[in-house]
Amino acid sequence: LAGLAALPATMTIAQQTAAPEEVSLIVKADPPGPVINRNIYGHFAEHLGRCIYEGIWVGEDSPIPNTRGIRNDVVAALKKLNLPVLRWPGGCFADEYHWKNGIGPRSQRPSMINTHWGGVVENNHFGTHEFMDLCEMLGAEPYVCGNVGSGSPEEMMEWVEYLTSDADSPLANLRRKNGRDKPWALHYFGVGNESWGCGGNMRPEFYADNYRRYNTFVKNYPGNRIYRIACGANSEDYNWTEVLMNLAGRQINGLSLHYYTVPSGNWRNKGSATRFTEEEWHATLRRTLRMEEIIAKHSAIMDKTDPQKRIGLVVDEWGIWHDVEPGTNPGFLYQQNTLRDALAAALNFHIFHQHADRVVMANIAQTINVLQAMVLTDKGKMILTPTYHVFEMYKVHQGATRLPLELTTPDYVRGDQRIPLVSASASRDAGGRVHLSLVNTDPGRTAAVSCELRGFAPARVTGRILTAGAMNAHNTFEAPATVQPQPFTGAALDAGRLKVALPA
Ligand code: AHR
Repeated sequence: LAGLAALPATMTIAQQTAAPEEVSLIVKADPPGPVINRNIYGHFAEHLGRCIYEGIWVGEDSPIPNTRGIRNDVVAALKKLNLPVLRWPGGCFADEYHWKNGIGPRSQRPSMINTHWGGVVENNHFGTHEFMDLCEMLGAEPYVCGNVGSGSPEEMMEWVEYLTSDADSPLANLRRKNGRDKPWALHYFGVGNESWGCGGNMRPEFYADNYRRYNTFVKNYPGNRIYRIACGANSEDYNWTEVLMNLAGRQINGLSLHYYTVPSGNWRNKGSATRFTEEEWHATLRRTLRMEEIIAKHSAIMDKTDPQKRIGLVVDEWGIWHDVEPGTNPGFLYQQNTLRDALAAALNFHIFHQHADRVVMANIAQTINVLQAMVLTDKGKMILTPTYHVFEMYKVHQGATRLPLELTTPDYVRGDQRIPLVSASASRDAGGRVHLSLVNTDPGRTAAVSCELRGFAPARVTGRILTAGAMNAHNTFEAPATVQPQPFTGAALDAGRLKVALPA
């Protein structure tokens, strides 16, 4: 047994003196559950704030070390996550993006106004070739989101031809003229983003027809087969899923879902990323756990017309959405990232694992400098967030077989609200190792987890832990290592059982 990951938080040291809470867990190695699609550990990078520009693209002439304009430090950090898939160019930006403005010599590319995100002028220096170059550097699959809201079927059709055709055709030849001889492999293509909102304010019936129309022109060129992702629901909009499945299900491979955790539950005043009470900590984790019900309900609707689960649920935007950091551009969505964000990420992964039979991809919003980011940059400087460390610790679950669990845990209660004290998820990898991830949600109580390992006899246990001395602990450019994984010595094998002392 290896790779035990634990994610507790402490508020104050003094609060850890109470007797540990007893938690019992059964990990069943036999029979196994479904495979955890590695794309559940996917990412999302939009032309928004400093995600693409500065976060990824600095240009070839930048003093920041780069390879063909893409910064080396960020690529090196992301490579350690085994980043499987990267969604681009948006987001809301996707439905006003016209891809032909982002190819050819950069000095000749037209500019545009990024109306959604700060009204800044976008110079289109990061376009199709640069994105595909980034994906190749990362070893990640590209997931391109096409423009339904303000683009035409012709524009979408031509983009796919430009990317994936090896014919002696005008668009493939244009690609060759721009420096890329062979077509790229492109498997994931989104037909619009948030078409119920920033992507066109459509009703589901109207979008379903538009999806059918646009998707018709997304062609499979020889050697390339596209997995077509339709714009799915906003959080609890179950009617959207029902209508899409009924009117367009036959043409859909993946249906997206967007659900953000807003700590206060109020979009106008979401709450600070770093200054919060224990009530807000609890509320944030509770709202994160709503992902379970939201996925279960959308999945049940999909089951009505797709009981075989042919269509995947693609949670292509998720994460915590805080108020922006004071003094930063409100349109840039720059926020800090604490131990609270790390726990929320881990809880989301446990839910995605639990629904691995339906959830085939998830893309956290967003990779760098925007929302719940992995990496924050300040010009040439770069730090890793607590959420980055969760992605790194949890990468052992990518492509592994989920194992069934039976968990009996007390609750963590604040006022009249309660959430489970401990959350767990386990998988077995191709090498036969079992990975168990545990989250202690309570910043004040230790959990004593007694775990029966049914169907396998572990030879040894090792683990790492991510914790800190405060709920709001985070990494800064001055103190970049405040929250980072440490070896965990609180797990031991005892007469065939695994005993874990999981700190507050
Ligand atoms: O991730 C930020 C924005 O959130 C995306 O552009 C949009 O799709 C969603 O509303």
